[in-house]
Amino acid sequence: MSQKKIDLYGVMGDPISHSYSPNIHHLFALQTNQNISYELFLVPPDDLENAIKSFQIKGGRGLNITLPHKTTVLNYLDEISERARIAGAVNTLLFEEGRICGDNTDGVGLMNDLEKNYNLKLKGLNILILGAGGATRGILQPLLKANPLSLTVANRTLQKATALMEHFNSIGKISTCHFEDISDDITYELIINATSAGTKGQSNFFPINNINKNTFCYDLSYSTKPTPFKKWSIEKGVRHSVDGWGMLIEQAAESFYLWRGIRPDTNGILTKLLTHSH
Ligand code: ATR
Repeated sequence: MSQKKIDLYGVMGDPISHSYSPNIHHLFALQTNQNISYELFLVPPDDLENAIKSFQIKGGRGLNITLPHKTTVLNYLDEISERARIAGAVNTLLFEEGRICGDNTDGVGLMNDLEKNYNLKLKGLNILILGAGGATRGILQPLLKANPLSLTVANRTLQKATALMEHFNSIGKISTCHFEDISDDITYELIINATSAGTKGQSNFFPINNINKNTFCYDLSYSTKPTPFKKWSIEKGVRHSVDGWGMLIEQAAESFYLWRGIRPDTNGILTKLLTHSH
């Protein structure tokens, strides 16, 4: 009797042991009846090219790429999707007939979570993004395309925010400011935390006054405990404050779809994930 072939996938990063991606893709594979394996690869920065080539030689079909490699991986690709090129970052590789193709599913992951899971329509909203690093870069294009009334990027280092504004100039208008200059005149309906401050345990640096119970607060980072940004926003009286679990699962679903051509149902995955992982 012939054995059905197992297709190889995985994620490369450094550090990597904390990654939930194997569990998520395992749940997707069970749900959609796909015969795949998905492994964690601890890959230090100097090893990335070798690690990708070895995976390709082994017959690997697809990879996720996470910190700190999302930008440097651009050097090792044969093709890059339009959305990844604009984001300047890649989180998904597809190995097709000897070619390595890079894509970025982070932006669509956030949009699916906001628009489908939370039913938030971004058109006409005032959006504030805190932070101007790689995470912000990955989400600006779809946010601008959703036609918000305004989009402001506030950052500790103004220069970095201004560089992003210039990079995305052709897609839409972005305003920039220092954290301490966040306007008291605009009521932001959506505030996204894209800084890495919370992971360092810092949270009291958001000088935002006109936040109210209707402001939707979204933290791109996630944790099994409430994140510092989530705690901060709830203390401010916000009713809708969520962390980045939804985006994590949605970007994985989009990668899975690119690889397998089947879109997994993300409903209920988080509950299963947290039940199985802990
Ligand atoms: P990522 O790829 O996760 O976005 P990054 O590119 O290092 O990581 O960017 C981290 C972001 O968090 C930056 O906007 C950074 O601000 P600076 O550009 O001024 O460095 C922001 N950040 C990190 N720690 C912070 C803190 N304690 N207070 C405010 N912003 C912080």
